[in-house]
Amino acid sequence: MPEIFEIEGGQKLSGEIEVNGAKNSALKILAASLLSDEKCKITNFPFIEDTKRIMEIMEELGVRVEKNEELKEVEIDPSGIKGTSLTGELVRKLRASILLAGPLLARFGEVEIDHPGGCVIGKRPIDFFVDGFKKLGASCEENDQSVKIVSGNNGLVGEEIIFPKISVTGTESLMMTAVLAKGKTILKNCAMEPEIPVLVEYLNKCGAKISGAGTSTIIIDGVGKISGGEFEVIPDRIETGTFLMMGLVTDSEITIKKCIPEHLGSVLEILKGAGAKFEIGTDYIRTISGSKLEATSIATHEYPGFATDLQPPYTLLMTQAKGMCMVHETIFDGRLFFVDQLSTMGANIVICDPHRVIVIGPAKLFGKKLSSPDLRAGITMLIAGMIAEGKTIIENIYQIDRGYEKIEERLAKIGAKIKRVRN
Ligand code: EPU
Repeated sequence: MPEIFEIEGGQKLSGEIEVNGAKNSALKILAASLLSDEKCKITNFPFIEDTKRIMEIMEELGVRVEKNEELKEVEIDPSGIKGTSLTGELVRKLRASILLAGPLLARFGEVEIDHPGGCVIGKRPIDFFVDGFKKLGASCEENDQSVKIVSGNNGLVGEEIIFPKISVTGTESLMMTAVLAKGKTILKNCAMEPEIPVLVEYLNKCGAKISGAGTSTIIIDGVGKISGGEFEVIPDRIETGTFLMMGLVTDSEITIKKCIPEHLGSVLEILKGAGAKFEIGTDYIRTISGSKLEATSIATHEYPGFATDLQPPYTLLMTQAKGMCMVHETIFDGRLFFVDQLSTMGANIVICDPHRVIVIGPAKLFGKKLSSPDLRAGITMLIAGMIAEGKTIIENIYQIDRGYEKIEERLAKIGAKIKRVRN
């Protein structure tokens, strides 16, 4: 039976909320664990739908996974992998399944993967991955349903690869694949998101030779084998930014604990410039009520620019700011269409084209029945429900559970009124 969220709007929040381990770091470590035949222990692990589903796919391959939700730990034992076929509904449903392809190809010389999809923004191309594998010497056979990639007679061989466009998982995938290739691989126009240097730190501890992570050029000297190891997942910078905007838009005083504020890149500066009041510590951010928000235009950008994953809650925040501004989504097609649903609640938003909207505020919002098209739009609708008058219902909440663990329980502790209901 599908579940929905029912939100009673108008509550002020107060107290402390802890940030969980980052989804987009945990997923990469799970993939990296396949490069070795030794165990990998992961701590501060987020038990969310995306990580659970990827672990299911890994178990189908023969990986042993021991989970301890209470301790937030998992132990991966990849020694018993018996196949490299990433096919089936689960793979197709989850964009992140593409992350497993590179490490499997590197270790076993072949992999077959169904075209991954997922939510409205999940169905994006995988050409950077396939082209990169080919550059490393693999051959690819592609049909409508899947791609089969096989490394050449000499195995994978290092090369120079320039990404046509900055890609986070593209950078991580080719970097992981090159760890076991022969010779030197030079990746240029790489993503610089904080999840990449910590992944490299782990891989280097296990015996890989990678330099330059966190810059746009990454150099990998191939090694024949790497060991297992232990990794602590870094705090989720997107959860941090989402909670920050939630505190601001509800005009509440909340302390967001166990976070790394500097990982928010330019977001903090933009919020300050817009008149948001908050205090930043080394590992916390505290929102202060009484902000006088002024409409402030943004364009999303690769790290350290304004994260596309924080564009939806920022767009909501701007519905409550004074004046008119433009939100320009430069990374994903289709990531702004959720604003239609904010408009049904009373927000004043004009869609200019698939990548740009004009937001005019402040506007009073009213509770409505909504449906979550993707993870970040979903959490934004939940927050919109918190500031709306009356009751908001959100359907398709799997899209929220994909990235936010037990969100209604955690938000209830700071005063939100959200019920998970079986429909
Ligand atoms: N792209 C291609 N071809 C490819 C790969 C990407 O054209 O082969 C395009 C995409 O369509 C997009 C652009 O390149 O226009 C950049 O996408 P990128 O590859 O950087 O996205 P990603 O690596 O698939 C990760 C995060 C996303 C986050 C983006 C941007 C993970 C698992 N996912 O995706 O997270 O939005 O980087 O920062 O790390 C989320 O958590 O909600 C989420 C969508």
